Amino acid sequence: MNDSLKPRYQLVHGQVLHFLADPGEHDAADSYQYFADGALWIEDGHIADVGPWADILARIPPAILGEAEVFDYSGKLILPGLVDTHCHYPQSGIIASFGRQLLDWLNDYTFPAEAAFCDPAVGSATADYFVERMLAHGTTTASVFSTVHPESVDAFMASAERHNLRMLTGKVMMDRNAPANLMDTVAEAERDCLALIERWHGKGRLRYSITPRFAPTSTPDQLALAGALYRSQPDLHVQSHLAENPDEIAWVGELFPHCRDYLDVYNHYGLLGPRSIYGHCIHLAPVEIEEMAQFGAAAAFCPTSNLFLGSGFFNHPAASDAGIRVGLATDVGGGTSFSLIRTLGEAYKVSQLHQRPLPPLRAWFLATLGGAQALYLDDFIGNFAPGKEADFIVLDPRATPELDFRLKGGEGLAERLFAMMILGDERCVMATHIMGKAAYIAA
Ligand code: GUN
Ligand code: ZN
Repeated sequence: MNDSLKPRYQLVHGQVLHFLADPGEHDAADSYQYFADGALWIEDGHIADVGPWADILARIPPAILGEAEVFDYSGKLILPGLVDTHCHYPQSGIIASFGRQLLDWLNDYTFPAEAAFCDPAVGSATADYFVERMLAHGTTTASVFSTVHPESVDAFMASAERHNLRMLTGKVMMDRNAPANLMDTVAEAERDCLALIERWHGKGRLRYSITPRFAPTSTPDQLALAGALYRSQPDLHVQSHLAENPDEIAWVGELFPHCRDYLDVYNHYGLLGPRSIYGHCIHLAPVEIEEMAQFGAAAAFCPTSNLFLGSGFFNHPAASDAGIRVGLATDVGGGTSFSLIRTLGEAYKVSQLHQRPLPPLRAWFLATLGGAQALYLDDFIGNFAPGKEADFIVLDPRATPELDFRLKGGEGLAERLFAMMILGDERCVMATHIMGKAAYIAA
């Protein structure tokens, strides 16, 4: 359809839930809004109004109501699109690779898979697959690693652009301790990153993320370049890995003897600050936790990956108490699912090991506004505040026989949210909308 003929307005009817802040461990009543018979009114892809159905209807000028596309999702839950704060699209094909922990898993499975992305056709096909799976799982924004090949960034950005998605990615930087066919040099990384930033950063809803893989695979000179790039233009992001595995941490100590600890390596090279996010952050000393919060660096909580690779148990309550921004992440393909709903179930189990069970309202905050805040994208996405981009999902809390049986008493909101994160998965995702428009409808 010609753009000028597409509906400019959407009216969405259903059970609307969104967060205004972190509900914490006691479901702070002013941290969220829930309209059991609610509505969203969307104008030109942005939230114009949210509230009870009757109030919204009364506020829409009658002259434009007739022009609106109407979505009747009554009885279903409408939430902001889910935010995956750390994942690797080129690892889509190695999820479920047996028997290794981090460093061996990288050498035996990950690096060979990533080497195939020297072929742009592999990048395009995998990016299209990945984006399509994200939408089917209710994820509308993600911080995504590409590979060392600049073409892999082009492939992902092009796919995200076609779907009009708010996405982040960057070319992996690796100039040591990796196979020769996956390494760049400082000069190549600089040339490629600058060209990619020029091509993609700020194009539509896309942003570039400076992506040194992790401290062991970059020389000090390359980390210094990454820090300089991060500061070179407004709104550039940084993503990397931190304190995931004990052998990795010991290796960082050997490679950077002048640094106090793992976090200090990134600090030393100017890689901590707003819009920087680090995957895992499991084994941090108190001083590292304190410093992450102080710098405004965020942590990506990747429970399915941390369990699958035997890495350990991220302490979300401790990170959060310290003031660190935390987002939820699948870490595909160290993680075992594209689903942030399944990931919430694993996050809950990890939280039990710290004797601080993750309450359902806080959990769904983590997967929505919390992720947007961790990525510093909450001016655009994360909840239904008027003016934000209207990415939302429609969830059926009784999508499976097990959920239907569990919820047959028509339980309240928190119990439905909890049942969904423990028993539910992508089968609960009925629809995913991008900037108001339906981008995925379950069969
Ligand atoms: N550390 C460095 N690279 C990776 C990666 O690809 N996945 C995970 N889980 N950890 C890493
Ligand atoms: Zn990762």
